[in-house]
Amino acid sequence: MSIVQAQRQSLIFVFVTAVLIFAGNLSAAATGPGRAAVASAHPLATQAALEVLNKGGNAFDAAVAASAALAVVEPTGSGLGGGGFWLLHVAASGRDVMIDGRERAPLAATRNMYLDSAGKARPRLSLDGPLAAAIPGEPAALVHIAERYGRLPLIESLRPAIRYARRGFAVNAHYRRLAQLRRPVLERYRATAAVFLRAGAIPETGWVLRQPELADTLETLAEAGRAGFYEGSIAHRLVRAVRAAGGIWSLEDLRQYRVIEREPVHLRYRGLNVVTAALPSAGGLQLAVMLNILAGYNLGSLDKVHRIHLVVEAMRRSYRARALSLGDPDFVAVPRRHLASAAFAAALRQGIELNHATRSTALGEHGDPPGKGADTTHFAIIDAAGNRVSATLSINYPFGSGFVAAGTGVVLNDEMDDFATHPGEPNAYGLIGGEANAIAPGKRPLSSMSPTFIEAPQRIGLLGTPGGSRIVSMVLLGILEFADGQPPAAWVSRARYHHQYLPDAIQYEPEAFGARLRERLAAMGHRFEPLAQSYGNMQAILWERRGNRLRAASDPRGNGSSQVTNWPAAVSRGD
Ligand code: GLY
Repeated sequence: MSIVQAQRQSLIFVFVTAVLIFAGNLSAAATGPGRAAVASAHPLATQAALEVLNKGGNAFDAAVAASAALAVVEPTGSGLGGGGFWLLHVAASGRDVMIDGRERAPLAATRNMYLDSAGKARPRLSLDGPLAAAIPGEPAALVHIAERYGRLPLIESLRPAIRYARRGFAVNAHYRRLAQLRRPVLERYRATAAVFLRAGAIPETGWVLRQPELADTLETLAEAGRAGFYEGSIAHRLVRAVRAAGGIWSLEDLRQYRVIEREPVHLRYRGLNVVTAALPSAGGLQLAVMLNILAGYNLGSLDKVHRIHLVVEAMRRSYRARALSLGDPDFVAVPRRHLASAAFAAALRQGIELNHATRSTALGEHGDPPGKGADTTHFAIIDAAGNRVSATLSINYPFGSGFVAAGTGVVLNDEMDDFATHPGEPNAYGLIGGEANAIAPGKRPLSSMSPTFIEAPQRIGLLGTPGGSRIVSMVLLGILEFADGQPPAAWVSRARYHHQYLPDAIQYEPEAFGARLRERLAAMGHRFEPLAQSYGNMQAILWERRGNRLRAASDPRGNGSSQVTNWPAAVSRGD
């Protein structure tokens, strides 16, 4: 071949390659952003997801990696001993599905198991120790997501978490604060104290927490799949430890546990599609009630006082509907279609006065303590092809039940407290429990976790947050920010307020209302319960199709990190 021929061939090669790359970018832009983004509550979980994406994994592999990493590095919020909801969008088919890995009540559970012989509640029993623990769903969910939706072998997605568990990670101030809060229960159980305390004391910030038994459990899960946790030696250890400390789990409980693929709740609000959590999360139906009520007003034309007033009235009514009607749909009949209908919202709207707060008691006296979990976690991931995951995971209270099953490294949840543990009677919060959410064997407790996608013609949002009963109202405020065209940094950082029907008061972060605004709302009849501390830890991603712009944001209240990649290698910071 002559030099001229060789030069011509190499020019053709360069041209064809350039055309292919350009075409590839165009087609990626048509279906996905061509890059990936991750936002999670811990930098090491974000790194784990990015590591797996860089190995060729998709968003679903990355979700397995982030979930497992959070189980190790944020043991206050979620873990193998807990559960959650993973909302998936499969780009190739356009399908949305919610993986329900929610815990379920043990088969030996009974409606009144947390009452004494006089029928009085014993609230600590559903919060602390193994009697508070429901059967975990997260291990089954991770295997399910990897097998059905991932590209990589499970071990590849679990590898970062196994490494963090073996080598350890430096605990942060958040860990210290929550360990202090849960100190009595962490000290009570030897296996728990051995993992989470340092010679019996709360560790200093920066102390390296190693969890070799949890690393072994993750490896067994990777090798044996679902059976690695729900059968065999891990299952035996879990049941033995639980029963020895007064719990009621059986091997049959673990053997029977299954994840459920559920159709998410799909809502329309002012030209937006909202895809969000189905029962047994209350979130989707509550958002339907609130957004349907608010769709009847032109919020943009109202002043701030009236806008907040109407949002609060919508919150009040949706939390009441939750209290009256919502529970595990596999156990109780829930009028889902009616609750999500425009007609129901219109009827509720008729009771709302534009200048006066409604008294919650005027709506009827039955309420329910919506999910009370104070911790929990959330992450959001989008990959280059446009696959998406928005996932909220929980062990309920910080460090769950505070009980680590010896020989497993797994801290068990206290999700049983998300049931109405004392139906028909006021609970510790002075509220009435909902019968639809009463305890029954094998039933899933009602949740507030609301992983969400928001879709406009040119913009796709992913968001969610921990925060117990306030999760749903936080997600509502996030959706309203999206509807106003705000970027994800605004959704995660805006000052928050909340009304959950009972108590009949607006709870709010210190920065949410100035004195003048509060005075004007008070003049309408609103009551206030200021919160000493901020709440929530929202993680969010926005993909703007026009201009193919990808942004990610982590709540400034937490320690999370969000990153946008230049797919597949270089990583740069997001919002
Ligand atoms: N445990 C928190 C929730 O499920 O809402």
